[in-house]
Amino acid sequence: MFNELDFKKIDLTKDAPVEETQRQYYYIAKARGMIAQECTKEGRTFTYCLKTFGCQMNEKQSEVVAGIMDEMGYKRQDTEDADVVIYNTCTVRENANLKVYGRLGRLHNLKNKNPNMKIVLFGCMMQEAHVVEKIKKDYPFVNLVFGTHNIFKFAELYSEMLLEEKQLIDIWDGTDKIVEELPTERNYTFKSGVNIMFGCNNFCSYCIVPYVRGRERSREPEAILTEIKSLVADGVSEVMLLGQNVNSYGKTLENPISFAQLLTEVEKIEGLKRIRFMTSHPKDLSDELIEVMANSKKICHHLHLPMQSGSSRVLKEMNRRYDKEKYLNLVEKIRTAIPDISLTTDIIVGFPGETEEDFLETLDVVEKSDFDTAFTFIYSKRSGTPAAKMEDQIPEDVVKDRFDRLLSLVQQKGRVVSSRFEGTVQEVLVEEESKEKGIFTGRTQYNLLVHFPACPEMLGKYVNVKLNTCKGFYYLGELQDN
Ligand code: SAH
Ligand code: SF4
Ligand code: F3S
Repeated sequence: MFNELDFKKIDLTKDAPVEETQRQYYYIAKARGMIAQECTKEGRTFTYCLKTFGCQMNEKQSEVVAGIMDEMGYKRQDTEDADVVIYNTCTVRENANLKVYGRLGRLHNLKNKNPNMKIVLFGCMMQEAHVVEKIKKDYPFVNLVFGTHNIFKFAELYSEMLLEEKQLIDIWDGTDKIVEELPTERNYTFKSGVNIMFGCNNFCSYCIVPYVRGRERSREPEAILTEIKSLVADGVSEVMLLGQNVNSYGKTLENPISFAQLLTEVEKIEGLKRIRFMTSHPKDLSDELIEVMANSKKICHHLHLPMQSGSSRVLKEMNRRYDKEKYLNLVEKIRTAIPDISLTTDIIVGFPGETEEDFLETLDVVEKSDFDTAFTFIYSKRSGTPAAKMEDQIPEDVVKDRFDRLLSLVQQKGRVVSSRFEGTVQEVLVEEESKEKGIFTGRTQYNLLVHFPACPEMLGKYVNVKLNTCKGFYYLGELQDN
């Protein structure tokens, strides 16, 4: 990361450099100067509030935006009564969009009180033309809008916005660029997400992600390994490799490499203790990956394997490219190779045309698969996706009834499945202090949470904890002699 001296070395009288990373540092230095002047005038430090909606990809990209805001001289705060409010948006389901519109309404009142307040929106939702139209029309007080493909341009766009009165909008249709080494403010010191690929090529018929994130692009393995090594040098011991379909990692690289091969390389990094990844698409999960997982000392025995539906007919309509039998066989194969694996999944109910029989197939897979947790979603129509045009959208009351039945089975099964560790001692990574003072939360390799009395010095460390009582998806425990 840059220090004060490095920023002074940037000559702002010259044009911005063309090389992208240097170019962004140039704009950080430029904004930094403008902001410092304003702060001196007002005799205080300016603040920003950054809220992230959606998945871990968004979390990871927000860390870059936060890193840049910090370098520009802002101080982060949790509440939205700040000088700058930034939302990183998600559009995977209608609810995600409604949340942002609701918050924008409230921000308008805050901005009336503080007209110098800046409002910035970016991320997946902004890649949709109808959203941008609505923002132009109904929310003219928003200062800056950009999408998912030009996040690396944030410093440049932000500097431009500081000099603009008008709403600044910059949405790209796609990019083949992957810009490395921008400033980052990590949410945790001891664990971190690491993007291994961007975008998605799968076009599941209900899903908006391929349209807002663009085509699948894998990062070069060397860049990934260098990032992880530098994270480890910085105190990180657990990484989560991120991609919409990590199992197809590396296929389009000039020198193709499989995800399992990448994992083997990551495993070799000294000082790294735990490796996680998500998401695994069942259609591409290879025997090679199962073998690498089974033999690894670092890859956590947890696999998130979204099934979406248990009905082969619905899976076909969803364009998932596997059927019920293949999914169940895969689960069995994984359990045979890794008997203590913890499996979690995603399920959608109410996909267009889903019949009661289809839904019973979903319940059947849940019954047979012994998931620790399943994330259940009501189908949400996303305009522009093939499923949005399908006839036979399911009435709300039918979907609600199925959703309740599914949730009740998932919870009932989850309680039994996750209690399999009750009474055992497990190594956990201590992640945070809970709301109750003196009680800390740790995570087992199986991704199960445990709350136990401990002290702040243990944060970020691995300790042995006895899992006394299972409370569904978390345990109450106590420290063992460490
Ligand atoms: N790439 C991942 C999923 C990313 S989106 C995968 O393929 O597994 C996370 C989850 O959101 C999906 O697994 C799906 O269950 C849910 N989801 C996506 N689109 C949805 C929609 N239109 N309605 C309801 N749930 C949806
Ligand atoms: Fe969406 Fe399917 Fe891609 Fe996952 S794999 S992001 S569900 S299109
Ligand atoms: Fe949402 Fe975009 Fe992730 S739509 S789920 S934030 S990829």
